[in-house]
Amino acid sequence: RRVLFVTPESADFIKVGGLGDVSAALPRAMSTDFDVRVMIPGYPQVVGAGYPLIEVGRLPALAGIPECELARIDLPDGLIVYVLVCPELFEREGSPYLAPDGRDWDDNHIRFGRLSLAAAQLAAGVGDPAWQADLLHLNDWPTALAAGYLHWWKQPAPCVFTIHNLAYQGLFPLDYHQSLGIPPEALGTDQLEFYGNLSFMKAGLVHAEQLTTVSATYAREITTEEFGCGLERLLRERAEQGRLCGIANGIDDTWDPQSDAHLLRGFGTSDWIGKRINCEHLRQMFGLAICHGPLFAVVSRLVHQKGVDLTIAAAESIVRKGGQLVVIGRGEPSIESALRNLAARFPGAIGVRVGFSEREARCIFAGSDFLLMPSRFEPCGLSQMYAQRFGSLPIAHRTGGLVDTIEDGVTGFLFDRMTVESFKAAINRAFSVYRTTDLFYAMRRAAMGIHYHWSVSSVPYAHLYRGLIDRAFPPVV
Ligand code: ADP
Ligand code: GLC
Repeated sequence: RRVLFVTPESADFIKVGGLGDVSAALPRAMSTDFDVRVMIPGYPQVVGAGYPLIEVGRLPALAGIPECELARIDLPDGLIVYVLVCPELFEREGSPYLAPDGRDWDDNHIRFGRLSLAAAQLAAGVGDPAWQADLLHLNDWPTALAAGYLHWWKQPAPCVFTIHNLAYQGLFPLDYHQSLGIPPEALGTDQLEFYGNLSFMKAGLVHAEQLTTVSATYAREITTEEFGCGLERLLRERAEQGRLCGIANGIDDTWDPQSDAHLLRGFGTSDWIGKRINCEHLRQMFGLAICHGPLFAVVSRLVHQKGVDLTIAAAESIVRKGGQLVVIGRGEPSIESALRNLAARFPGAIGVRVGFSEREARCIFAGSDFLLMPSRFEPCGLSQMYAQRFGSLPIAHRTGGLVDTIEDGVTGFLFDRMTVESFKAAINRAFSVYRTTDLFYAMRRAAMGIHYHWSVSSVPYAHLYRGLIDRAFPPVV
């Protein structure tokens, strides 16, 4: 059974957020039972990663989507990655989604139309004479149009569409449908139109056989007006049809505090001296003063979703109570500058790095006592799982995947209302736990002991893959 995992980012090459981690881990977890290959655009970080690019074939153009070369990278551990070699679309400075000035690339519809089209072509027997996908596993809006193409071409291969974040929908002017080869009859509001726009997301929601989200709580939340981003009715319908379910993300084996080579020193459960060494190292890295108070941390994309405004509002009270704060993040310029100002106001107590660094992020999880995650919504969240594994207790808003992965008062702290008061009350609870050493260490042990492993999360995915493939291609008996 051949599965193509289609993604706009992968930590093997380039990671913007948690989807990058999932795209590196989930296909590997599934590869014991399925022939899983990954497909990703040929960004500079992919074609220049230092692996040989093996020529596979050519993918034909469609309407305004250009022809492109399909190549393969065989990663050292055996995972095969299809790469779309199309320099005019993908080999640019900037992130997968944004130009260096922070704005969406203005040809994102063509770029991710190309990715979606390539996936559909590979499931329709075009591109690689030696391999045709039986099922597409699509991830977020940049891949969603693939489900539409397969439907319009009447191809049997089914799609699983995973919603990692419903808030990013891939909305474009309706008349772009021509350049994407979308048939005009596919534009009704019951199909790809969303309030006068063309929605990539809706191609996935309408045409994929199965929708998943990355936690059970978020799967329920998106059927409500509060979290449904205007798509709640359609999602409710899918839930009622049994075609929407939540499967929590896992974390992979590289997230092990004992063996992580990024850390100054590995440490295991109850090795609090090892943990303290990482903590002191972190203080040094961020220019903080020696201190006996707790060290709070943020590792986050700096966007409205993550509620960093609450952290900024609570920062002064953390410092007044004798705590310190380290932040690493990148994103909206206004949040970046607000954080820089904060660090300037509290030198020696608040350290901020605007940027992206895997090593520093890991040192922060290992060195901090508490991770702040006041997300407005959170489809799953990986940072809180990494933090727990590394003995840093998350303080998080009671929403989405945070509810499913943090046990309040046991492995972290949850607060109910998205207000500074509610958040500060949870921070105060953390301060008092910190002063009650036995309880603090017991919580740390509990947090480090839980393990959200992909071997657990891969079981329901395997069940879905198998059911859909067997239905589309009934086994010959
Ligand atoms: P999201 O996908 O919404 O950004 P997640 O918590 O699921 O949230 O995943 C975020 C991932 O990105 C985690 O692996 C986290 O460690 C990482 N990350 C976020 N910001 C940074 C940063 N500035 N530097 C390094 N890693 C980061
Ligand atoms: C999205 C979500 C995050 C989730 C990640 C991986 O970026 O914001 O909550 O953990 O995808 O599924």
